Amino acid sequence: MLFFLDTAKIDEVKEAAEMGILAGVTTNPSLVAKAGGDFKNIVKQICAIVEGPISLEVVAKNAKDLVKEARNLAKQAPNIVIKIPMGKEGIKAVTQLAAEGISTNVTLVFSVSQALLAANAGATYVSPFVGRIDDISWEGMDVVRDIVAVLDYYQFPTQVIAASIRHPLHVAEAAKAGAHIATVPFEVLEKLFDHPLTDIGVERFNKDWDKVKKK
Ligand code: G3P
Repeated sequence: MLFFLDTAKIDEVKEAAEMGILAGVTTNPSLVAKAGGDFKNIVKQICAIVEGPISLEVVAKNAKDLVKEARNLAKQAPNIVIKIPMGKEGIKAVTQLAAEGISTNVTLVFSVSQALLAANAGATYVSPFVGRIDDISWEGMDVVRDIVAVLDYYQFPTQVIAASIRHPLHVAEAAKAGAHIATVPFEVLEKLFDHPLTDIGVERFNKDWDKVKKK
């Protein structure tokens, strides 16, 4: 399972890229608003850092406008993926963009049926939102597991991005569920490094090494 970073903050993208584990970036309008600054400039900077897929969301009421916006965004770099919200107009837009060879990521997916619609339309990625399903007292990871199984059974090339990841356990569970990618907020990425036994072990090694050096 690969790691994408779910952010529009440049310093976070830079730091994750330096770790060498960053396979791509996903953003959404809320994350762009949170990051602040000019959208075009944010896109330019992320593209300069990341070689992998960068999902940028289009916002419009109908398929025609979604496609128009998508074409403009896709022109900016070859690794741009157009993120499109689930819905009739969104699926029409995905079908058109797939025909034009433009990669898409269908977002706000909460069920197997929605994922199947996206896959049939030719979506490159589908993004089930784990945390938001958990928020309504349902098991978000079951939806990821079922989507992975169904798309795999019918041999769709569409990849599954586990999104709305809230904590490290979500990451481990997404991998066990067979998600191709987990897109994680930077805070969650940082937490993946932590384990109390690692901290205790490092401290013990450091103390013992100090003793060795004193001899
Ligand atoms: O990748 C989708 C993500 O940005 C939504 O996360 O925590 O707002 O549900 P959240």
